[in-house]
Amino acid sequence: MLGKAVEDAMNEQIKNEFFSAYQYLSMAAYCESENLPGFAQWMRTQSQEETEHAMKFYDFILDRNGRVVLHGIEEPVVEFGSPLEVFERALEHEKKVTAMINELYALAVRENDYASQTFLQWFVTEQVEEEKNAGDVVDTLKMIGDKSEALFLLDRELGQRRTEEQPTA
Ligand SMILES: [Fe+2]
Ligand SMILES: [Fe+2]
Repeated sequence: MLGKAVEDAMNEQIKNEFFSAYQYLSMAAYCESENLPGFAQWMRTQSQEETEHAMKFYDFILDRNGRVVLHGIEEPVVEFGSPLEVFERALEHEKKVTAMINELYALAVRENDYASQTFLQWFVTEQVEEEKNAGDVVDTLKMIGDKSEALFLLDRELGQRRTEEQPTA
């Protein structure tokens, strides 16, 4: 059985992961409006992964005989100044999520909840990847500057991203 404090915090994290999905989908919509379909595809895939993260918490709570309680999701940011700003905000967001995951882990340690600690380790590793992915694109976009040909090529490259379930063809 899941302790109340960890259960509450995980329910809060379900909301945070769904907010992430919503924010990335909003970034995808902005990229579509800027005629950057590859950037949009990258963000759409990211959004799907965030929904999967939310569902991992959902299923874990159920597996531990806890009660899933869904909370309201805030409105995402809809306007951005540039593709660089989109990815800078994505990186900032992921850093915040990393802090949330670390806090959750610290709570599981305080509560002597070993099963939750093991479960959360996947998220600790995932956040390293999340920050790296967004950070790499930020670095590339800074290098590109206002060279539109390079932006076009990056858009093509980012458009290759798919989730595991989606075929690449
Ligand atoms: Fe996530
Ligand atoms: Fe994320």
